[in-house]
Amino acid sequence: MEPRDIPEDLTEILISEEQIRTRLAELSRRIEADYAGKDLLLVGVLKGAVMVMADLARELHHPITMDWMAVSSYGSGTESSGVVRILKDLDTDLSGRNVLIVEDIIDSGLTLSWLLANLNTRGPASVEICALLRKPEAARVDIDVKYVGFEIPNKFVVGYGLDYAEKYRNLKSVGILAPHVYTPVAAQ
Ligand code: XMP
Ligand code: MG
Repeated sequence: MEPRDIPEDLTEILISEEQIRTRLAELSRRIEADYAGKDLLLVGVLKGAVMVMADLARELHHPITMDWMAVSSYGSGTESSGVVRILKDLDTDLSGRNVLIVEDIIDSGLTLSWLLANLNTRGPASVEICALLRKPEAARVDIDVKYVGFEIPNKFVVGYGLDYAEKYRNLKSVGILAPHVYTPVAAQ
């Protein structure tokens, strides 16, 4: 991304387009090896995982199917509530399927641990997770994440699918959102 394309709402670019592409290629080679000869269903978590799903799926030299879920845990703020609601469920029957959940980011881990438990009740052969980003310092539950793109500091990030109040999803890289964007004036 050129400097002129970086909105002033970002304090810095954390992960570039190039870094994302390289890392997704590395993860894809591992996924191809791990699922060789097996069926693979990618389950994307809307809306944040749209970009990582699109790029990962095209990078994979492996026959896949794709499905989507939408869950809500956040509202429009920046703190996880731990309360998860299914807004859109899968169309696919998971019995006997190898499921790979594709996520944009693991923050507290509360959303994913709920999702894992939910999908595991549906009789899949396996359920694993691929997340582009993880914030280790924010973890409130311990989740076994097989494929992680990047571990990042405990800052609110946007871009490459990630939003703040639905904005910035179309940035090609991941950047740190400037606190003045989401901090009420009185608290600054
Ligand atoms: P938890 O805390 O349950 O959060 O792991 C998972 C979901 O929260 C959103 N999230 C973020 N979105 N920048 C964002 O744009 C962030 O830094 C961030 N941290 C969490 C995201 O939707 C994720 O799936
Ligand atoms: Mg998400």
